[in-house]
Amino acid sequence: MRCGCVGGASGIGLETTRVLTMRGAHVIIAARNIKAANEAKQAILKNNENAKIDVLELDLSSLNSVNAFVHTFKALNLPLNILINNAGVMFCPYQLSQDGIEMHFATNYLGHFHLTNLLLDKMKETATTTGIEGRIVILSSLAHAYTYEQGIRFEKINDKDSYSKKAYGQSKLANILHANELTRRLKEEGVNITVNSVNPGFIMTDLMRHSFVLMSKFMHIYLEKKNINSILSKIECFS
Ligand SMILES: NC(=O)c1ccc[n+]([C@@H]2O[C@H](COP(=O)([O-])OP(=O)(O)OC[C@H]3O[C@@H](n4cnc5c(N)ncnc54)[C@H](OP(=O)(O)O)[C@@H]3O)[C@@H](O)[C@H]2O)c1
Repeated sequence: MRCGCVGGASGIGLETTRVLTMRGAHVIIAARNIKAANEAKQAILKNNENAKIDVLELDLSSLNSVNAFVHTFKALNLPLNILINNAGVMFCPYQLSQDGIEMHFATNYLGHFHLTNLLLDKMKETATTTGIEGRIVILSSLAHAYTYEQGIRFEKINDKDSYSKKAYGQSKLANILHANELTRRLKEEGVNITVNSVNPGFIMTDLMRHSFVLMSKFMHIYLEKKNINSILSKIECFS
């Protein structure tokens, strides 16, 4: 069983990689920080010397990097049963990607969208030859509900003046719509691949690095075990 975990070097992706390798999956960690990814690999191997993990470079915010990753991956001639689109940034200051796209949208949605499209043939081929159902898992978030009034602002993706933390919610909404539409198309085609978007819940990870306020609120949740909704309603970006 071959699995690709994007952003598998830390947080939820690292734990996902650890558990999948325990189940015998061969995991390719796709990461922009190769040093961190190799350290993650070593940490997993320390507790499970049979873990099968490889690291490949991928900067999801760059379409060229996605192209290069897929080229390298396909050259390995491995099957691909599971794709986990897990990488993400949250509440980063306004910036454009190399391709000139607002960074949340570029990283959380567009990079994963492009990657999935480029790997789809390989996944279909694997599902057919192995007879095992393929899986695409796209990490979304409760924050998909905290997007701009228009949902996805196609005409204003890069608008700096009205940019806000809702850019994260917008990208996460796009993740869900991607999963829904891909599910519909694959079903129509009769392809044996399931696509799911998932809200992983609230987990203290490096994702919070751009929001001291959010991080401290979450610390309260953990320390006081308060009701999550009452906490969220007090956080500016979620209210
Ligand atoms: N933690 C939560 O409570 C929570 C809640 C809802 C949804 N989520 C979602 O869960 C997913 C995982 O988040 P996490 O909490 O585990 O955060 P995390 O620890 O920060 O993990 C995110 C991973 O994405 C990688 N990444 C970011 N930008 C990238 C890029 N341009 N190219 C390649 N990799 C990139 C990061 O690598 P670097 O170290 O190089 O930045 C990191 O390994 C995200 O999609 C997030 O939106 C998390």
